[in-house]
Amino acid sequence: MIHPVRVALVGLGNVGRAFLDLMISKADVLADRYGLSLVLTGAADSSGAVMDAAGIDPMALASHKARGGNAGNFLIGVPGMHACKLVAQVEADLLLEASPVNLQTGQPGLDCVRTAIGRGMGVVLANKGPLVHAFGELTAAAAAAGVGLAYSATVCGALPVVNIGQRDLGACDIRSVAGIFNATSNSILAAMARGGSYEQALRQAQLDGVAEADPSLDVEGWDTANKLVIIANSILRQPATLADVQPVVGITSITAEQIRAGAAQGQVVKLVARAERTEDAPDLTGPEDLSGLSRYRLSVQPAWLPTDDFLASVSGWEMGIVFDTDIMGLQQLKVDERGPLPTAAAMLRDVINMIGDK
Ligand SMILES: NC(=O)c1ccc[n+]([C@@H]2O[C@H](COP(=O)([O-])OP(=O)(O)OC[C@H]3O[C@@H](n4cnc5c(N)ncnc54)[C@H](OP(=O)(O)O)[C@@H]3O)[C@@H](O)[C@H]2O)c1
Repeated sequence: MIHPVRVALVGLGNVGRAFLDLMISKADVLADRYGLSLVLTGAADSSGAVMDAAGIDPMALASHKARGGNAGNFLIGVPGMHACKLVAQVEADLLLEASPVNLQTGQPGLDCVRTAIGRGMGVVLANKGPLVHAFGELTAAAAAAGVGLAYSATVCGALPVVNIGQRDLGACDIRSVAGIFNATSNSILAAMARGGSYEQALRQAQLDGVAEADPSLDVEGWDTANKLVIIANSILRQPATLADVQPVVGITSITAEQIRAGAAQGQVVKLVARAERTEDAPDLTGPEDLSGLSRYRLSVQPAWLPTDDFLASVSGWEMGIVFDTDIMGLQQLKVDERGPLPTAAAMLRDVINMIGDK
């Protein structure tokens, strides 16, 4: 028995198109293993939207985009139709949100997510913006509406950081988190260490579809800070915003000379996010007591690490994280992924888990 799941996709860029590809390439696996069939009933990009309750051919839409077309001029597409209007009207069970991060307002993703939850749709995010702006509001709204809100794709692509932190570190006291969460800046530092140029390495990240639409988010540390905020809220149960991450320093002032000098002393520089317990951490009994309290000091900045440090081994395109726990040891994880496919695959994982939970 195959269960059709109607999905609407906002954002048809690197990640959105990779998701369309997965809808085709993994259709048999979804049917055989999970009894699922994904039906695309709506899609939007910056040009407009297309909506069809009978289903839109994902491959035809992906090919149309690859040829320079857009959602607004695809078949019965509506040029200029706002993504939120699509979400307000589309016949869909799930919203898949993969539009660019907007640090200032979280839009249009934030209102798309609010609208979807208000209509009883589950939400799967690749876009960090809505969570960074309104984590508490969105999780409370989703819980009140009885719908799923999943975002494992927002932190380190396919590395299941959120899932492990929320589910598998059960009963742990997490003393600290440290990680390298941005493959673009990590690959730039690696390229500079090999003698390559900063500009070349950034261009390669853009060609590979890994850099943010606005790459200053990557190299100035904000993408890493966004992920740390999501980890703080979702795993550390600390209601944090970007204003709580101090400092946020990127890699733009690091020079090839500094990297060479560090290497001569057995050190490597990495852009490291940290959440460290503050010494005056209050004794807390539950999430309801956390509001306004800061249990972890959050920061993002370059760190010079000895070459035998685990995070120093997170090289090039890799991302990694270390959870220091009281009863499950030091958990060290890393992923080597290139391109947007693993992030789209993480969205698919969220869809499977969300539907499987029903
Ligand atoms: N790329 C990765 O490896 C990766 C990894 C983890 C998370 N993410 C997150 O996933 C999201 C998408 O990343 P991406 O690399 O796919 O970005 P992208 O290639 O820049 O694509 C963004 C898509 O969103 C569309 N868009 C822009 N403004 C819009 C608006 N106002 N309304 C509706 N659609 C709009 C764009 O439309 P047009 O096609 O018309 O330009 C494009 O289709 C981002 O939030 C990013 O942070 C990406």
